[in-house]
Amino acid sequence: MSTTISNGPRPANGTPGPRGTPVLGSMRDFQRDKLGFIRSLTRYGDVARYRTAHLTWYQINHPDGIRRVLQENNRNYGKGSLTLNFFKPVVGEGLITSEGALWLRQRRLIQPIFHRRSVAAFGALMTDETLAMLERWRPAMEGGEPLDVPVEMARLALDVVTGALFHAHVGEEPEVIGRAINTIVEDLGYRFEVPFYPPHRVPTPRNRRFRAAMRTVDQAVYAIIAERRRDGGDEEDLLALLMGTRDEASGEAMGDKQLRDEVMTLFLAGHETTANALSWALYLISTHPLVEGRLRQELDEVLGADRRVPTIRDLPDLMYTKMVVDETLRLYPPAWITNRQAIAEDEILGHRIPAKSFVTLSPYVLHRHPDYWQRPDTFDPERFAPGRTDGRPRFDYFPFGGGPRQCIGQSMALVEAQLVLATVLGRCRLRPTSDEPVEAEALATLRPRGGLPMIVGPA
Ligand code: HEM
Repeated sequence: MSTTISNGPRPANGTPGPRGTPVLGSMRDFQRDKLGFIRSLTRYGDVARYRTAHLTWYQINHPDGIRRVLQENNRNYGKGSLTLNFFKPVVGEGLITSEGALWLRQRRLIQPIFHRRSVAAFGALMTDETLAMLERWRPAMEGGEPLDVPVEMARLALDVVTGALFHAHVGEEPEVIGRAINTIVEDLGYRFEVPFYPPHRVPTPRNRRFRAAMRTVDQAVYAIIAERRRDGGDEEDLLALLMGTRDEASGEAMGDKQLRDEVMTLFLAGHETTANALSWALYLISTHPLVEGRLRQELDEVLGADRRVPTIRDLPDLMYTKMVVDETLRLYPPAWITNRQAIAEDEILGHRIPAKSFVTLSPYVLHRHPDYWQRPDTFDPERFAPGRTDGRPRFDYFPFGGGPRQCIGQSMALVEAQLVLATVLGRCRLRPTSDEPVEAEALATLRPRGGLPMIVGPA
């Protein structure tokens, strides 16, 4: 393993990396092929340094360095101006973007809502929405028409998170919100690709669409909150749980604006990521017949020949399904890169990280690093067989991040992935329309480039 031996920190410019061109540095190389570029940086060692225009980046390629940033010295690493400028227009001061005392208070309030036991309450919602999706697929199945799987999974994951947030709400808001959220997510993806696009206040057609979508979501969310405050109610959805939390010290509940920011955060964080994981899982399963065979055998054993609808109680028995999910998240981690900004100077594996510099951590890079994984590009769920992961470094696999800011929705996402896969594969068989390998496109999340058309037939 290429561990750097530390004799005290090197000077910042002693950290190796590509030089790029005089003005833009490596900006073009990064934009041209983001995944190829960040992966190529492992050739410089445990820490690689590069520049895009006026910004200097330190990419950490070693699990101990990742641990340093996310866990050991996490207080020294803020989310950074770039991440905050990107997300704040949408989520305000929600859990993903807040920092310091506000973040800690909110995290303590919200964490219990996402414990595995509480998430179990949403199992039936997840399978109901999956069955509704399969109903929508019926005409395409009968006509042999391809379905664009990422679009289908995005709708499913959005329906699940909307149902989880506003379960008992009757009215048209959930659907209106869903459409507006799609516009907002699309805009974030676009801005990731075109970072110098005019800010939202400039009235371009795209920005007008975005602002209209934001108004729609805000109005709908505030209307639901007001209705709940007026009528009380005994709903047990995420919104009710959020509204029911009380600060330990002051006894105060969340105000409307904070509630809105957290609702928006959960929409944004909880839907595209899960949808992409599901799309990749369906693709990988359909292109690996041995894996598909084992998975179907497990479904037969656990759910019976008539393939009853799985419940949360089946999950411990659907072990192979879980291994497939874990391996999918290794090869295609939806949150493929995370940035931090150093507050004070630090040293990582012998490299000096100056104050204010940007640090990038990429699950995609670590998950395919040949020092830590044999045949790193091969899909092999056996890597996650019980006992096989014992003794591995904690941070060679971190699809949900780590340390205090680890994904709060991890249990919910994993439960959803297992239940959706078991429900879908119990009832149908999917095949890509082309034999060409599907490429990953690194936008705000990792998506199949150009969509993923698949033909759906009976199981
Ligand atoms: C496969 C699905 C998912 C993946 C891969 C994923 C990944 C991640 C990652 C890597 C982080 C940490 C980001 C960082 O350190 O900068 C994160 C944070 C977060 N995720 Fe997820 N996530 C998923 C699903 C969900 C779901 C379903 C929800 C909620 C409904 C959710 C809510 C959040 C929130 C609120 C945070 C911020 C936590 C904090 O900063 O305290 N995520 N997620």
